[in-house]
Amino acid sequence: MYEDVLRYVYNIDTYKVQQIQGGWSACAYKVQGNDKKEYFLKVYDKIRPSTQNMYTSLHISSRVLRWLNSYSSLTNDIVELINTLDNQCIYEDEKNIYILYKYIHGKTPRDEKISNTHFNILSNIIAKLHTYGSEIPFDLTVITEDFNIPFYDNLLNFVTKEYSSCSKDLKEVLSEHLNTIIHQLQRLMAIQKNIVKENIDYRLCHTDIHKGNIIIDDSVHLLDFDNLLLAPVEADLFAFYQQPRWERLLSLYKKTHPHYKVNEQLMKFYNLRRVLIDIWEEIELLESDAHNVDRITSLNNLRQQFI
Ligand SMILES: Nc1ncnc2c1ncn2[C@@H]1O[C@H](COP(=O)(O)OP(=O)(O)OP(=O)(O)O)[C@@H](O)[C@H]1O
Ligand SMILES: [Mg+2]
Repeated sequence: MYEDVLRYVYNIDTYKVQQIQGGWSACAYKVQGNDKKEYFLKVYDKIRPSTQNMYTSLHISSRVLRWLNSYSSLTNDIVELINTLDNQCIYEDEKNIYILYKYIHGKTPRDEKISNTHFNILSNIIAKLHTYGSEIPFDLTVITEDFNIPFYDNLLNFVTKEYSSCSKDLKEVLSEHLNTIIHQLQRLMAIQKNIVKENIDYRLCHTDIHKGNIIIDDSVHLLDFDNLLLAPVEADLFAFYQQPRWERLLSLYKKTHPHYKVNEQLMKFYNLRRVLIDIWEEIELLESDAHNVDRITSLNNLRQQFI
């Protein structure tokens, strides 16, 4: 599968292409070349709503990742993108979008606690990433935080109107939570209206830092830069704020960013926006025409949001 793409687009003759456990947004393949090199291929199905939503930003985020690979101090800390023969970061055909990376050996600690040593390394990677900002030589407008809630109308419309005619399995999961969702949407909108935009420093943020997006060997590698954003640093830090190792992260972070002060309002905004995006993306997927949707996993992901 995809041998032709690898041969004609990347000039890689393959010995083996094997599907492996991927993430939520794309299928993942381990590619072994005849040259003994190994690659990680991500294939995004264009029919999935998430691919359509990311379409433009993916082109920019992959170019920024390539820039970070070549010109930043993060070279050894992050996944490395492989160019196509005509020097592009992304290839697409009618059905899919493709992005190829160097394969990283190690473990993704999905459900495991990471050691303090690895946590420290991750904290330093985040601090280093946040040293980059608008000086990166691309037009970053498309991936600049605007504090919008692009899913607001759709999600509100779904829970107040479309819900009554949605699929039975989805209805069951959501039935007790409709008011909670409406209430959370209103809260998010209220927080958004109060955000004081003056004096916010915009830095390069990964925005999706979790244990599924790292690989650990002797060191730590940060992956999946699909959601890169030029944003307030809380767009990354919210995931750790008020969690058990927050103080550890903060003290390491302040070695690189000594003047950093927590913006509570932004922490709340990102926390709530994340929960609601995750809810909306699962609903959107479950109600879409996408094939091969793993409904059990999607419904479980949704249930998790209400625990
Ligand atoms: N370069 C790589 N080498 C080896 N394995 C990788 C590489 N990049 C990612 N992986 C593995 O594949 C998994 C999925 O990758 P990734 O997070 O990029 O996909 P995704 O579909 O965007 O994920 P999600 O949307 O769930 O965050 C990772 O959790 C990791 O285990
Ligand atoms: Mg991921």
